[in-house]
Amino acid sequence: MIVVEAQSLQKNYNGFPAVAGIDFKIHRGECFGILGPNGAGKTTVVAMIYCFLPISGGKLTVLGKDVTLEPRSIKTKLGVVPQENNLDLELTVRENLLVYAGYYGICRSEAQKRAKELLHFFGLSTKADQEVEQISGGMKRRLTIARGLIHTPEILILDEPTTGLDPQSRRLIWEHLRKLKKRGLTLILTTHYLEEASQLGDELIIMDKGKILEEGKPLELIKKQVGAKVVEVEISPGQSHALLGTLENLISGYQIAGNTIYLFVAEDENAAVELINSSGYVQTYRVRPSNLEDVFLKLTGRGLDYAETEETGFIL
Ligand SMILES: Nc1ncnc2c1ncn2[C@@H]1O[C@H](COP(=O)(O)OP(=O)(O)OP(=O)(O)O)[C@@H](O)[C@H]1O
Ligand SMILES: [Mg+2]
Repeated sequence: MIVVEAQSLQKNYNGFPAVAGIDFKIHRGECFGILGPNGAGKTTVVAMIYCFLPISGGKLTVLGKDVTLEPRSIKTKLGVVPQENNLDLELTVRENLLVYAGYYGICRSEAQKRAKELLHFFGLSTKADQEVEQISGGMKRRLTIARGLIHTPEILILDEPTTGLDPQSRRLIWEHLRKLKKRGLTLILTTHYLEEASQLGDELIIMDKGKILEEGKPLELIKKQVGAKVVEVEISPGQSHALLGTLENLISGYQIAGNTIYLFVAEDENAAVELINSSGYVQTYRVRPSNLEDVFLKLTGRGLDYAETEETGFIL
């Protein structure tokens, strides 16, 4: 069942096309990932879905309702975790949940019960009575997710849920999101972390400059665009063309960034490596599994603009 459908969806900010006519469908129970670098339009897309920003053109339906006609009814069925934490720092962890429950008209006893369950689920029970100011960044993020779930929404929208967190906190949040998905919740997640997109996303759209560059399941996208392996070759720029000439039939594409060529190997990386070794042009090389960053690199000629050494060992 389709729960969100965008047709030629547009958003202009004073004439600037932040979302430039895109189409996508989100199905119930899936984790739909929107991957893209800064300024791609990710927040703008989700803010239109949760009826915070009016659309400028096209059509957008959420749970069968048109966002321009029934925004109130849509909002009650969505949970939102915004890009910036907007918790009330002076209230306690539990009070943050209870105040939010009040906005949705949930009675006090039901809110207490729900808050207790959510604090337990997110490992925050022992922090319930502390002021939010005193808890860690990862805990604040978990609390913001818990808050988004207080009214038992049908869809949870997460705008960059782990940006700025350390890898351990990030992985803990991934665990929680996986559990929520197992319970049948539909997740819509924006991220510029390629590992997050491939770990959590069932279906992805890759966005850049307000457009969708590619869409599909993470592994299928990688297979289709770049194949299984990438060979990274260090070479002096003057010799790249000679090397590429000898490899012509063995690669499905390449990108050059400084002294590095990323070779997207079509099928047989061993044959490519043999040629690289015998070419005499190459100083060093390494073979590694391909990833979504390679897909982005191939599609745009540039990286996602992040030096993600921790997650990928891969700096552009
Ligand atoms: N209120 C606004 N007024 C004018 N331009 C805006 C506004 N909000 C966003 N933009 C522009 O629209 C484009 C898309 O912005 P958006 O915040 O949706 O991108 P994003 O993919 O979420 O980026 P990030 O990864 O930095 O969060 C950017 O070029 C941004 O500068
Ligand atoms: Mg954003």
